[in-house]
Amino acid sequence: MFVTFEGPEGGGKSTQIRLLAGWLREQGCAVLTTREPGGTRIGDAVRALVLNPEHVEMQPEAEILLYSAARAQHVGEVIRPHLARGGVVLSDRYADSTLAYQGYGRRLDLDALRMITAFATGNLKPDLTICLDLPVLDGLQRKRATASEGSDDWNRIEREELEFHERVRAGYLELARVESERWWVVDARQSVEQAQAAIRARVQQLLP
Ligand code: TYD
Repeated sequence: MFVTFEGPEGGGKSTQIRLLAGWLREQGCAVLTTREPGGTRIGDAVRALVLNPEHVEMQPEAEILLYSAARAQHVGEVIRPHLARGGVVLSDRYADSTLAYQGYGRRLDLDALRMITAFATGNLKPDLTICLDLPVLDGLQRKRATASEGSDDWNRIEREELEFHERVRAGYLELARVESERWWVVDARQSVEQAQAAIRARVQQLLP
């Protein structure tokens, strides 16, 4: 089972992933939690490159290919092997982040992004994608409050203008609407416990 977590900034994905992983392990699942960009040695090197706020000259095409390179490594080195062993993979962001951020956010061609992503992942799609949705300003405020604790501080993408983040959020909701069987949108303004309960209820349906 391959479950991805998506959404605009500050939705609390990492907390929800940690809680869900604990619950799944109690039920005997072999759970691997991971994130993008990153999750591998090569992916972490790409992460440092792509999120570095000093890299203001980065071209949108280079940005896509860097995220995709990290993803290709992630799929081949970590995700596919764990799924092949019968495990559960929970990933903090995956290919839909590229559609939302580079496609809707940067207004790059969605069909081209889908082609690049299919190549990078060998067409590996999540069984379920959970979107932690909340108004952009709420999310950015939450992020700002915790930024100094995070490893990347206030990264290159988070520094984008408000309208960029609004397009990203609207993009996610559009993606979820079009492919509603795969997506599960959770209101991230609820308490952590309420959001987790909504997530477990949906994941439960996928368990044997
Ligand atoms: P991160 O600090 O992991 O943010 P978050 O906690 O919100 O996941 O930084 C990842 C950033 O990279 C985030 O702003 C979203 C962005 N991103 C893309 O623009 N495209 C992508 O394909 C991926 C995976 C992430």
